[in-house]
Amino acid sequence: MRVEIKKEAYEKLKRHFPWIYQNEILKAPKCDSGSVVDFVYKGEFIAVGFFNPKSKIAGRVLSFKKVLIDRGFFEERIKKAAKKREIFKKITNSYRLIHSEADFLPGLIVDRYGDNLVVSFTTAGMDNFKGVIVEILIDILAPKGIYEKGDKIRQKEGLEVISQTLYGEVDDEFVIKENGKKFLTYLKEGQKTGFFLDQRKNRKIVGKYGGEKTLDLFANAGGFGIYANASFTKFVEISPLACSLIERNCELNNLDNYEIVREDVFKFLEKEKEKYDLIIVDPPAFAKTKAAKKGAIRGWKYLIVNSLKLLEDGGYLALFSCSYSVSEKDLLDLALSSSLIEGCELEVVEFLKQDTDHPYILSIPNSLYLRGVLLRRIDEA
Ligand SMILES: C[S@@+](CC[C@H](N)C(=O)[O-])C[C@H]1O[C@@H](n2cnc3c(N)ncnc32)[C@H](O)[C@@H]1O
Repeated sequence: MRVEIKKEAYEKLKRHFPWIYQNEILKAPKCDSGSVVDFVYKGEFIAVGFFNPKSKIAGRVLSFKKVLIDRGFFEERIKKAAKKREIFKKITNSYRLIHSEADFLPGLIVDRYGDNLVVSFTTAGMDNFKGVIVEILIDILAPKGIYEKGDKIRQKEGLEVISQTLYGEVDDEFVIKENGKKFLTYLKEGQKTGFFLDQRKNRKIVGKYGGEKTLDLFANAGGFGIYANASFTKFVEISPLACSLIERNCELNNLDNYEIVREDVFKFLEKEKEKYDLIIVDPPAFAKTKAAKKGAIRGWKYLIVNSLKLLEDGGYLALFSCSYSVSEKDLLDLALSSSLIEGCELEVVEFLKQDTDHPYILSIPNSLYLRGVLLRRIDEA
């Protein structure tokens, strides 16, 4: 089957961007959601990929070469992705094995937690290959169980959101061992496919700056605060489930001087008066679209100004944005304007990004989705 694309899409595909939006389709035959098609421009083959007329992102490239999309194709890509992650085995028992487009497998997410695999199929095209993918994962990785986590994003592809065991048995609770730290996670409940694996490298970098008092805002399972290992740590998190994990993770890592505040960070910052020498701000994606950016910037400004108020001279502030529309430059601009309000200077200590089991592919700008900066407060200037 051939789907004709418009010039705008052709220009982007030439630079190996892998998405074709609905309004960039010129002509398409009637077909099932997620069919494998050839994308052509002026009669010339450009790429092979999934086509879903129901989705705003109607086309997703699998290859820019004329290849057969069969079991062998997926097997080779999965093997390559798994091989690339071998290096993580030295530092952790849990990592992302396959990260969708960033592993050239649009709509397939696979996380490894020891012998458990937690997977998500987020495109109709990949969902059509679920059976084959599960067989390949069993053949290559011999897991004890595979659990499918229903991601809400499936609705955009016209798919039902289902969570289910696809193979064997999957642990309900699992202890992640990472750089000598331990984190309990619930594999079937919880956010994303479990733990925030993408922050692994940043936890290690930022954790080095933990001193007397750490404030971990939007703490989730407490990763940053636990790595920081300060004399006193305050965790602020709104989700009861995540708060129960922080409690158990503090025990697992022998942290004994800490407080868990189950509250909205915005409300917490209105009243907090204590000072800290390390503050981590790692909120959820406020702006999922460009249109929502204005509100997100306002939220960020509030968070930075109020965090700076609680930061000691010489203290460190880590800021993370996991929304593509709030860029590193936005974070730095916001930090600068906030420091002027607070009357201090800020030194940029580190530029941070997601860990490499969540690859950043240069031709896919939005695959760089997690940006961070570590700043140091300077009062004397
Ligand atoms: C990106 S995650 C943080 C990940 C964490 N820093 C880590 O490395 O594992 C954001 C967290 O913020 C929590 N959250 C969302 N809105 C919140 C709010 N207004 N106040 C407090 N926590 C919030 C979510 O429940 C989630 O656990």
